[in-house]
Amino acid sequence: MTDRYDLPAGFRWGASTAAYQIEGAVDEDGRGPSVWDTFCERPGAIRDGDTGRAACDHYHRWPEDIALMRELGLDTYRFSLAWPRVQPTGRGPANPAGLDFYDRLVDGLLDAGITPLPTLFHWDLPQALEDAGGWLHRDTAHRFADYTALAADRLGDRVPACITLNEPFVHLVYGHALGIHAPGHALVLDALPAAHHQLLAHGLAAAELRTRGLDVLIANNLTPVRPASSDPVDVAAADAYDALHNRLFTDPLLLGRYPDLTAYGLGPEPDLGGAVRDGDLTLIAAPGLDGLGVNYYNPTRIAAPTDPGLPFAEAPVEGVPRTHFGWPVVPEGLHELLLTLRDRYGAALPPITITENGCSTDATLDDTFRIDYLATHLDALARATADGIDVRGYCTWSLLDNFEWAEGYSQRFGLVHVDFTTQRRTPKASFAWYRDLIAAHRAGRVG
Ligand code: FCB
Repeated sequence: MTDRYDLPAGFRWGASTAAYQIEGAVDEDGRGPSVWDTFCERPGAIRDGDTGRAACDHYHRWPEDIALMRELGLDTYRFSLAWPRVQPTGRGPANPAGLDFYDRLVDGLLDAGITPLPTLFHWDLPQALEDAGGWLHRDTAHRFADYTALAADRLGDRVPACITLNEPFVHLVYGHALGIHAPGHALVLDALPAAHHQLLAHGLAAAELRTRGLDVLIANNLTPVRPASSDPVDVAAADAYDALHNRLFTDPLLLGRYPDLTAYGLGPEPDLGGAVRDGDLTLIAAPGLDGLGVNYYNPTRIAAPTDPGLPFAEAPVEGVPRTHFGWPVVPEGLHELLLTLRDRYGAALPPITITENGCSTDATLDDTFRIDYLATHLDALARATADGIDVRGYCTWSLLDNFEWAEGYSQRFGLVHVDFTTQRRTPKASFAWYRDLIAAHRAGRVG
C-alpha cells in the first residue's frame, strides 16, 4: 500500500543553488566577468538595480552553508560551477584558484556526508565568449567541452556525476529570444541556433565526462502544457508551445531528432536557423543520459496567438493559489508531467531526478506556504513513483534565499532566510519541516 511519501528505497533528498545566485566574490581569485555581471550593469535590467556582486557571499561562507546542509540531513547538494572562475575568458588553461574553490567545496561536502552534484553551466557564460558570439556561435559548444574536461579532471575523483546544462529552454527564451535575462538578446525565433549550440555543447561535454567515468545528467525546465479551451486553434497553439518548451530540448537527447518546429509555425527553416550540421544529432544523443533532471514549477496554459510573430499566446492558469512571484501552484502538474514523459519516451526515458522545485515567498520565517507547496508536490511525486515512474531523488530550489536573476533579491526561494545586509542566515519553518521529513524517511516512518 502506498501512502503519501512512500518513495522508493534509496531515494535521495537534496537542495539546489547556482553559482551566480549565491557566490558573490565576482572579482576574486582571478574570476573573469560573466554575461550576468555585464547584464546587471544595464540600466533597468534587474529589479531595484540589484546585482550578484555580493549575493549570499557563499564564496566565503560555504563552511557555514555546508553546516546548514548537514543539519538538514541532505544526501545531495546540487550547485553550479562558475565557468569564468575556472576559465576566466572561457578558453585556455584552468585558473587554479578558481578550481581550488570547488575542490574545497567538494571536500567539505564529502566530509559532511553529502554527495556533490555539480551543474557545469547555469547561465553565467564568460563575457569573452559572449563577445565572440556566445551561444549563437558554434565554437562555444567546443569551448564548453574543454571547460568540462578541466573541471572533470580536477573533481572527477570525488564527484560521481555532473549535470551539463541548466534549463537550456529558459536560457534560450529569456536570454536570447526575449532579452529578459543575460546576455539580453531579443532575437525571438532568430535565437534558435542558441538552442542547438547548447545541446551540441551537452553532447560534446557528455563525451568528456563519460571518458572520465562520470555519469551525465541534464536539468531541463519542463511544464505540462494545457490548451486554454478545446477549440482547435487553442489546441494547435498548445502543441506548438509544447514542441518549443518541452520537446525541443528532450527529443534530441532521447530520440535523436528535433521536433519539426516549422510544422508548428516556429521558424522558417527546419534546422534551427541553419545551425544543425550532419552528425550533430548523433553526437547529441550518443552519449546517452544516466538521468534526466526535471525542474518543475508550474503548468502553462496556452491559447491561440495574439502576436503575429509567435504561434501561441500564454493565458493565465485560473483558480489556483499563486506564489509571491505570481506563479500558479499546481502540484498535480508534476504528476501529469512525469506521466507524459513516460508516455512520450517509453523505454528511452532514463531515471529521473527532480533537480528543482520550490516557490518564492515574502521575507517571512514562518513559511507555511512553502511547507504546503513542498508537501503537495512531494505527494504528487510519490503518486508518480507509485504509478511506476523511476524517480531517484528530489532537490528543492533552494537552500538559501538568493539572487533571483531579473527579479534581484525580491523573490525568496530559500529554506534559509538570508539578510542581504548582514549575510546572517536564519532557517525558516520549512527548513525544520524538510529536516524532519528527511529524518523520518530515513527511519522508514513517513506516511
Ligand atoms: C529556475 C532557475 C533557477 C531559479 C528558479 C527559481 O528557472 O533554474 O536558477 O531561478 O528558476
